[in-house]
Amino acid sequence: MDILVIGSGGREHALIWKLNQSNKIENIYSIPGNGGITNLAETVNISLDNHEKIIKFVKENNIELTIVGPELPLVKGIVDKFQKENLKIFGPKKEGAILEGSKLYSKNFMEKYNIPTAKHIEIKEYNIGLNYIEELNLEDYPIVLKADGLAAGKGVIIARDKNEAIEGLDRLMKSKDFGSSGEKIIIEEYLDGIEASLICLCDGKTIVPLESVKDYKKAFNNDLGLNTGGMGTYSPNKYYTEEIDDKVRQKILDNIIKGFEKEGIEYKGVLFIGLMLEEGEPKVLEFNARFGDPETQALMIRLETDLLELIESVLEGTLDKQEIKWSDKPSVCVILASEGYPLGYEKGKKINGLECIENSTVFHSGTKITNNKFYTNGGRVLGVVGLGDTLEKAIETVYEDVRIIDFEGKQYRTDIGM
Ligand code: AMP
Ligand code: GLY
Repeated sequence: MDILVIGSGGREHALIWKLNQSNKIENIYSIPGNGGITNLAETVNISLDNHEKIIKFVKENNIELTIVGPELPLVKGIVDKFQKENLKIFGPKKEGAILEGSKLYSKNFMEKYNIPTAKHIEIKEYNIGLNYIEELNLEDYPIVLKADGLAAGKGVIIARDKNEAIEGLDRLMKSKDFGSSGEKIIIEEYLDGIEASLICLCDGKTIVPLESVKDYKKAFNNDLGLNTGGMGTYSPNKYYTEEIDDKVRQKILDNIIKGFEKEGIEYKGVLFIGLMLEEGEPKVLEFNARFGDPETQALMIRLETDLLELIESVLEGTLDKQEIKWSDKPSVCVILASEGYPLGYEKGKKINGLECIENSTVFHSGTKITNNKFYTNGGRVLGVVGLGDTLEKAIETVYEDVRIIDFEGKQYRTDIGM
């Protein structure tokens, strides 16, 4: 069959790389894709906001299955529109994607179905927020302020004292740094612990976690600097023990399925659960309606089952019978970013050394190809992924290759997996 993958990041490159190994797939299209994806798929430049044009393209090219990478088209209802036209698409409908699209909705869902999470309050007006902050005591800090709507991972402010809390409230509700996403906000309890990414497949009745992954969100070594989309990952996550997994299944996954049943939500797709492991107790930080980036890069390299088979079992509702095989070898993904990321950065720097990489797999994020040469075209540029018999070996392999690839302003963490 011919398929289409929507999105332009390293996540989509990794999904396409894996789908390309399926003997049931003939042609892969990618909207809009990136430099690296051009080697595996036909990239087509259609705006991700233009769902009607995407549907027209799918019909004209007899594409049998569409896979959605990023959250925005899901939250805007691309799946509902495809289904109305009887076109096959992988991802939750609007009613499910709202778990990522509205943090208030997802917090209320968690509370209603006893899913462990940080205590929160909803703030609809600036003055109410200000009064709330005025009444807090010193020992209530840190607190976390969050925009309700999508903010590209940037709408979360951790305030360590009253000044920072008011500053955060101002950014969200007064200067409106995140536009209408900050019309309503959440103030929640700060959770102290170790984060883990749990990416699950869900067919509406059954939810199956993929192998565990650890994401490194901060820009610099030792978790210093600003939050980013993710500067690296490794899988499996050494902190995600069997004991944690048991608790996650009992207290989180079972309750999610109960919630979907009670609310009448038919959730088919990926449910990515951001977890905080606090003194051995897993609590949910957030839900995403999509695969993680760069979690997907570290997972696809270890996945032995045909990804198309997994996607079809989600769509057919047979996930309970589906086996998923993984390589025993740990994987590590190191992101090479442009100098300045996650703030301002320059683009258009020539990337050298890619042809010398033999032991790792390189997934492109922000790159473009001109006259057969690759240039930087985004904040996160490449994800270098290595496998090893041990985590230490995977780290060694990956960093050897990370040093070979070069572009002006190359910025990366040297502590991924350590
Ligand atoms: P979110 O988009 O809600 O996952 O938040 C982005 C990041 O902010 C998370 O990955 C955490 O690093 C941090 N964060 C969010 N909520 C909390 C919380 N309640 N306590 C501590 N850190 C948090
Ligand atoms: N790496 C975190 C995310 O994809 O949201």
